[in-house]
Amino acid sequence: MKQIILIFVVLSFVLGTQNPLFLNETYTTSLIKIKKSIDIFYWNFESRSNPSEDSIAFWLAGGPGASSLISVLAGNGPFKLNKNQTLESNIYAWNNQANMVFVDQPVVQDQLSRKTRKSTYNVFLSVDPQNQYPSYGQFAFESGLISSYDYYVVAKPTLSDFSKLIAKKAPYKLFQPICMKGLQNIVGNDETPKFDVYDIMCTGSDCKSAFHGLSDYLNRADVYAALGVLGRTWQIESDTVYDALKYDYDQSFAQDIAFVLESGIKVLVQYGYQDFVCNYIGGLQWAENMNWNMQSDFQNSKFQDYLVDGKIEGKFKSAGKFSILIVDKSGHMVTIDQPALSLQMFNQFISNQYIRNKDQY
Ligand SMILES: *[C@@H]1O[C@H](CO)[C@@H](O)[C@H](O)[C@H]1NC(C)=O
Ligand SMILES: *[C@@H]1O[C@H](CO)[C@@H](O)[C@H](O)[C@H]1NC(C)=O
Repeated sequence: MKQIILIFVVLSFVLGTQNPLFLNETYTTSLIKIKKSIDIFYWNFESRSNPSEDSIAFWLAGGPGASSLISVLAGNGPFKLNKNQTLESNIYAWNNQANMVFVDQPVVQDQLSRKTRKSTYNVFLSVDPQNQYPSYGQFAFESGLISSYDYYVVAKPTLSDFSKLIAKKAPYKLFQPICMKGLQNIVGNDETPKFDVYDIMCTGSDCKSAFHGLSDYLNRADVYAALGVLGRTWQIESDTVYDALKYDYDQSFAQDIAFVLESGIKVLVQYGYQDFVCNYIGGLQWAENMNWNMQSDFQNSKFQDYLVDGKIEGKFKSAGKFSILIVDKSGHMVTIDQPALSLQMFNQFISNQYIRNKDQY
């Protein structure tokens, strides 16, 4: 009997389940026990093409502390949530040609050692704060969001002080107020920001409309039952996780990326042109300043147009296995703002035509 049960369990994992609620996508969900009373939830969607042959990709949301399930319903997941709480199939879903596992992570207890934090969550911060933070002023100025006075006299010196403190490894308590001051000079206060920090071109109440209704949907009893998580509560983001990880804002992860590249693993980073929070200026700066064995090739490499259906939708450059792609008409959420581009980029990356400059072929 035990053996039969075991075989059944294995088969049900391999075969997945279907449910009209989820438009008959083939999926599996599970809560994986990490420690006593701690588990991690994942939702795995089988590839719509050839699940047994296609790659497996893991999607880990940033935040820190944002749920990866946001993307299941808004972004690169198989669904789009309609205003009336029904689902619609997303033709640009990343599981078109890959098995996609959306993992809700990290989980934190109240007390986490710094080491544990680093191992559970790292490169999703803006990679290198010493490059990212000063870029806030430059980006805002170049985008016409602040005056030259606000840039040269106010924002630039403050953000550069911040950068120096980080270089000296000053504690969070010391650099955080300076960082906040520098940012508030640009953005205004939290209640009345001068612009949408995730998309500087977005105005009005529609800016985060893709997220509307997610919480109502994912907290439905029938959805819980179908996902096997009855008794849980879904939250779009976790303050506990955010608070536990904010101390990592001073950490640069550029050397971790260099290590990955030098181990022969390809890396692609993407930025939306209209994103302030993780803006492309800071992104390009850390990418060029990253110390690795092809640094000068990368610095010397020229940007090329990135085409989707014959139209220029961004630009990219690359060296060896490293590429950076800057996406037009997109804020922070490239998968929502440029879904076709996003799927093309992903499919190129997981196949052997990953994004490379022409002279590298
Ligand atoms: C899901 O599958 C059922 C049973 O085969 C079918 O009746 C239904 O129309 C399908 N729904 C969708 C959205 O494909
Ligand atoms: C819900 O909205 C979608 C998209 O607007 C529409 O196609 C669908 O018919 C609506 N369903 C119901 C039950 O109202």
